[in-house]
Amino acid sequence: MPTALVRNGRVVTASDSYEADLYVDGGKVALVGQGLSLPADTVIDASGCLVLPGGIDAHTHLDMPAGEITSADDFETGTRAAAFGGTTTVVDFATPEPGESLLSALETWRRKAEGKAAIDYGFHMAVREVGETTPAEMARLTRDEGVTSFKLYLAYLGVLQVDDAAFFRALLGARECGALTLVHAENGGVIDVLVKQALARGETAPRYHALTRPPEAEAEATARAISMAAMTGAPLYVVHLSCAAALAHVTSARDRGLPVFAETCPQYLFLSVADYDRPGFEGAKYVMSPPLRRAADQEALWRGLASGDLQVVATDHCPFTLADKERGRHDFSKIPNGAPGIETRMMLLWDGGVRAGRINAQRFVELTAAAPARLFGLWPRKGTLAVGADADLVIWDSEREARLSVEALHMRVDYSPYEGRVVRGGPVVVMSRGDVIVDHGEWKGRPGRGQFLKRQHAHPA
Ligand code: URP
Ligand code: ZN
Repeated sequence: MPTALVRNGRVVTASDSYEADLYVDGGKVALVGQGLSLPADTVIDASGCLVLPGGIDAHTHLDMPAGEITSADDFETGTRAAAFGGTTTVVDFATPEPGESLLSALETWRRKAEGKAAIDYGFHMAVREVGETTPAEMARLTRDEGVTSFKLYLAYLGVLQVDDAAFFRALLGARECGALTLVHAENGGVIDVLVKQALARGETAPRYHALTRPPEAEAEATARAISMAAMTGAPLYVVHLSCAAALAHVTSARDRGLPVFAETCPQYLFLSVADYDRPGFEGAKYVMSPPLRRAADQEALWRGLASGDLQVVATDHCPFTLADKERGRHDFSKIPNGAPGIETRMMLLWDGGVRAGRINAQRFVELTAAAPARLFGLWPRKGTLAVGADADLVIWDSEREARLSVEALHMRVDYSPYEGRVVRGGPVVVMSRGDVIVDHGEWKGRPGRGQFLKRQHAHPA
């Protein structure tokens, strides 16, 4: 196996920051020390740069069917774009068809990724029905297949939504097999009524997407999910938390010592409800669920990231082309939900978080790599730079300036929600298991080199 020596960088992990060289052998970090002088096939000078653990994006939807269409990035284009942004692992959502078994859905998603993914990947399993056999299937996936987290939707009535009894049964099943339950927390019944009322009033523009999914609907479902998890004793992870009211429930649960965790996403930190009022149909670019919120919510989320009440920043990368978004030109409820973000997560969080003085570099690593590795059973193989860990690393130039634009980015979608935004700080070299896959903006990876990760039990802590 080729060896590599990364010299003169500042290694930053979730707990440390120090000048060191790293020696990579067999795809693993083999030595960390100062002044290392060993022969290596590749020598990389990281002077003036940081050396960070590769990012882990714990929430992506690659090649995901949504009715008649499919999310625009597949495992080849999506994982390549991820790498260009400094992410070296994704945990995607396998989603069964109605009536399909969880094991069959896993097979389908493994086929989607095999031969295509350029970085390592694992799967959460979405659960849309909780029948007699579901707990046994969950146990089998957890024990034998390395799928140790299950997501349930309290939104999308008539499509993915489960009722309270089903959610409760899934929590009991997850507790039994030691899995982590993920929840999309919005009250789908309330939203359904609000959407129908809005359309009946002729309110069809994208801005009504946000008005019919109020923060209260998210806060209510978050509180309900936490209460049900507390009744079972099972840990709970709230995906894409977007507002202060929902965060207050997570904070209060954690203050009571409950094993409740939550992620937010860059779109909720950097974009706002005002984006729905862009001219023409442009607001459709920002239709996602939960919707974008107000400035006060953004501030609350930043505080949560700094204080530890929020543990993870993931992307919910679920891009649809503008042609796909057109389906909802005359009815906002028909606009496919989701936006691109897999490539821009780390650059945005560095610029708006670290450079802006809201979080420090170690907290950045915690939020983008270490916490998702621990929560989703990838630690210590991923999420840190220590002897024995996978050599997934990013040489990060904290001064590098980039203008986020659809022309410069690599996601397979024809717009960027951040078009024109200038960010400072970004990856110059990205290594996955010892292979340089991005080198100063040049693609060196290849489809199919990414490996399926059988994840361990989650370690909520
Ligand atoms: O709008 C979104 N978030 N689309 C992706 C599916 C989901 O709800 O996570
Ligand atoms: Zn999602």
